[in-house]
Amino acid sequence: MDQEEVTKGKENQRTDRGRGSRKGSGAKPKVVVDNSPSSSSSGKPLLSRRETQAYRSKTQHKKQTDVKASVSYILQLKGKRPIVGLTAYDAIMGRAVAESGVDFLLVGDSVGTTLLGYETTIPVTMDDMVRHTAAVRRSKPGCLLVADLPFGEASLSFDRLLESSRRLMQEGGADAVKLEGGKDVADDIEKLVATGIPVLGHIGLLPQTVKAIGGYRKYGASKKESEDLYTDAIALEEAGCFAIVAEMIDSKVSSELARQILPPLIGIGSGENCDGQILVTTDLLGWSSGPVPSFVKTYANLNQVVSRALSEFVREVRNRKFPVK
Ligand code: KIV
Repeated sequence: MDQEEVTKGKENQRTDRGRGSRKGSGAKPKVVVDNSPSSSSSGKPLLSRRETQAYRSKTQHKKQTDVKASVSYILQLKGKRPIVGLTAYDAIMGRAVAESGVDFLLVGDSVGTTLLGYETTIPVTMDDMVRHTAAVRRSKPGCLLVADLPFGEASLSFDRLLESSRRLMQEGGADAVKLEGGKDVADDIEKLVATGIPVLGHIGLLPQTVKAIGGYRKYGASKKESEDLYTDAIALEEAGCFAIVAEMIDSKVSSELARQILPPLIGIGSGENCDGQILVTTDLLGWSSGPVPSFVKTYANLNQVVSRALSEFVREVRNRKFPVK
């Protein structure tokens, strides 16, 4: 294109804009291309008005869902309002939790202690995680779905870690993965993120190391521990984590970390100044086989509700009250 053509083109653009902006100027109405199924080439509507409205609200809902199910949605919430996460392990829980309006769902390896009857999360396998993640995905949660990488996945090789993350996303349908650990796993996380795998970090108490640390306790009370936590959080931020779970961290340390790092800090037993909170759903529902951690608030007592209902059924069958005649 020579200089003259460029100038002509610019002039045309200017005049076109001028014409279009004037009302009642006799300019032809703008041609709007409508690709929705409500229009056809013959001009006859393909869909009734009600069907068109339903189509529009469905596509609108899908657009909103796609935005909500992204890590950038979670990231931009930092500083606006507290972010809420909850765990889910199957399709029924996935639907119930998603309907509560949470910002993200975690298929935690806590499935081992909450549903599978293990004493720790260590026996949980990749097959367990893929199966439970796929079940939650089938509930179509409409928000970000994160799946935990179980014990040992980051220890063998980066290829193994990549393969396990691939399984969680391709076979399980996860949008992102979570990995326990700080600076020691930061290099691997950086490589996962570079491959296009969004990663949720996890620092403080790492339940997968419970055998090594000898039990569950608070982190960050000493100067050394608080400095280590800071180093871990910065390493995960630099590795590209979209958010970081902070488990059982001293509340002064967690509020300072939340202030210093860019990704949202999602606390569990780490005080009120984190950028958000996550809990194990069965704990807050009072639906667990053992005692719950002291920082948990139980919002229901499902153990009691379920036990009463089941006992009543047994009684009624024995007393010939069920089936009802
Ligand atoms: O596995 C899990 O449920 C978790 C939460 C404690 C955040 O990691």
